[in-house]
Amino acid sequence: MTMEEMIRTLPGQYRWAHDIEVPSVPASQTVLVCGMGGSGIAGDVAAAAAGGVFTHKSYGLPAWTAAMRPLVVAVSYSGNTEETLSSTSEAVREGLQVVAVSTGGRLEAEAAEHGWPFVRIPEGLQPRAAFGYLAGTALRIVQAVGLMEEPGLEEAAVIVDELLGHDLDGPGVHLAEDLADGLSGKLAVVLGGTGPSAVAAYRWKTQINENAKSPAYVACLPEADHNDIVGWSTLGSITRRLVGVVALRDGLDDPRLARRFEPTLRAIREDVSVIGEVWAQGHSPMARIAGLAAVGDLVSVAIARNAGVDPIPVEPIETLKRTLSQENS
Ligand code: F6R
Repeated sequence: MTMEEMIRTLPGQYRWAHDIEVPSVPASQTVLVCGMGGSGIAGDVAAAAAGGVFTHKSYGLPAWTAAMRPLVVAVSYSGNTEETLSSTSEAVREGLQVVAVSTGGRLEAEAAEHGWPFVRIPEGLQPRAAFGYLAGTALRIVQAVGLMEEPGLEEAAVIVDELLGHDLDGPGVHLAEDLADGLSGKLAVVLGGTGPSAVAAYRWKTQINENAKSPAYVACLPEADHNDIVGWSTLGSITRRLVGVVALRDGLDDPRLARRFEPTLRAIREDVSVIGEVWAQGHSPMARIAGLAAVGDLVSVAIARNAGVDPIPVEPIETLKRTLSQENS
C-alpha cells in the first residue's frame, strides 16, 4: 500500500474502533497511556478527549503513579518499542493493572504471560498510518473504564471520508495540495491552540517529519504568545524565505484563545514566507482532531511528492532502534 492508500483507510479505521469489543477492564479514575511516536499520540488524543487521562512518552512511569495508581494502557503498534516495554515492566513492579494494545510483538507475549486485557490492531501499516485504529482504541478503553461517554468515532469517520473523497479527490485533498505548495522546501511551524488543535498540530509536525522527511515544529497558543512571538525578528532574512506557518483553528476553542490567533499571525506575518489556515470540523474532540489530522497527513505526502521522496520508510528511526538494541544485548 502507498501512504496515500493508507490515509484512505482512516475512515474505516475509526469505524473499526467504534465496532470493536473492548475487553473487560476495571473502572478507574485515572488512565495513563504509555507509547511512543505514532502509537503514543493515541494517548494525546485520549487526554484531549477525556478528563483523568494522561500520557507518558519515556522509560518507566512518572512518579505520581505510585500514589494515583492509574490503569496503564500500553500502546505500541509493533509491540516491541523499548520505552513502552519499560513502562509495562515498571507497572508490573508497582502492581498496576495494564491493558495492552498492539499488532503482536513482545507486548502481546507479556499480555498473555500476565493475563492483561489485549486489543489486537490490524497489521500491515506503518504505525503512524494506524492513527485511527490506535487513537480509536485508546478512546474505547477510556470509555470502558467510565471516563467518557461517546468517543465520536463515527463522526470522525464521516468527516474524514468527506475530506478525502472516494478517490482522494475530496476538498481536504485540494486544500492540502495548496498548503503543501506553500510549505514545500520550507521549515514548517504548525500553530495550534489548546486541546484538540494542539494534538492535531503535533500530529502535523510528526507527519511532516516522517512522511516528508522535512523539519517541522509546533507552537501552541496561548503559551506561544509569551515566547515564540518574540523570536522571529532577528533571523528575518532567513525565516522570510524558509519558514511556512499553518494555523490550525477550532471554532469550539475558548473565545479568549480564539481571539489571539489573528493578532499573533499579524505579528509574525512579515517574518515568515507563507501563512495558511485549516479549520476543524465536528463536535467531538476525536472528530475535530481527525479532520485536522487528515489534512495534515495529506499535506505531508504532498510535500514528500513535491520533494521526490518516498513517504513510507523511516530509516533513521529503524537504525537508531537497531543500534540501541545491539548496545543493550
Ligand atoms: C513509524 C512511526 C514511529 C513509531 C515509533 C514507536 O511509522 O510512526 O513514530 O510509531 O517508533 O513504534 P511503535 O509504534 O511500534 O511502538
